[in-house]
Amino acid sequence: MSYDKTQATHEFTRWSENYDRCILQTLLFQPAHRAIIKRIQARFADRPIRILDVGCGTGVFAARIRDALPSAQVWGVDLVSGMLSKGAARWQRHAECVTPIQGDSERLPFATGSFDIVTCANSFHHYPHQDRAVAEMHRVLKLNGRLMLVDGYRDRPWGWFIYDVCVAHVEGAVHHASAGRFRELCGQAGFGQMDQRVYRGLAPFLFTEAVAEKSPVPAPHFRLDPSEVKVAA
Ligand SMILES: C[S@@+](CC[C@H](N)C(=O)[O-])C[C@H]1O[C@@H](n2cnc3c(N)ncnc32)[C@H](O)[C@@H]1O
Repeated sequence: MSYDKTQATHEFTRWSENYDRCILQTLLFQPAHRAIIKRIQARFADRPIRILDVGCGTGVFAARIRDALPSAQVWGVDLVSGMLSKGAARWQRHAECVTPIQGDSERLPFATGSFDIVTCANSFHHYPHQDRAVAEMHRVLKLNGRLMLVDGYRDRPWGWFIYDVCVAHVEGAVHHASAGRFRELCGQAGFGQMDQRVYRGLAPFLFTEAVAEKSPVPAPHFRLDPSEVKVAA
């Protein structure tokens, strides 16, 4: 059975209780966050950029971005209200520069061309329609904006065992895309220049960076049907 958003909601509502204390924070999440932040700093230094973090969870990564890049404005979007609310104190501490919003990666609640960077850390394998999520990430990026996405690397035997066997046993039919599949999805969505790097270790991960070289096209759900527009008399 394929993984769906109801399963994701159940899984993360349950996991939210001890999410910030789980061992994966040290093994996988923190190294992934560090890799993305280093890349943002290399590309943008501390310019006043707008960053969207998709699948932001309890806001650990959004807060780390802000600590490392004090001029950045950060938005976090996550499907599961339980994850967002577990980070309430954290969102409060950074309220002036970090904004959490509940929403779906496949239907991002932001206008076309809104961000300089879209990040997505350790969340992508939960999306049932990964092509739609990448298309949405492209849509909300400005021209020449950058997608920086990290997920488990499953193209070698150890990563395959960790992600396709162990993680899939715990989480169900989640899907860790191969490096080739990421390139394909990015190409289809309108990204140009791409760069991928594998970080090895107990929980190896793949970093994909892609540049939005084509102008974003508004998604159908952001186009108004004129017949639905009511003008006050
Ligand atoms: C393993 S957590 C990663 C959280 C955070 N990015 C980090 O690195 O600490 C995955 C997150 O993805 C979220 N998620 C799952 N499906 C989603 C979807 N369709 N749209 C947005 N977020 C989703 C989950 O609710 C969860 O908070």
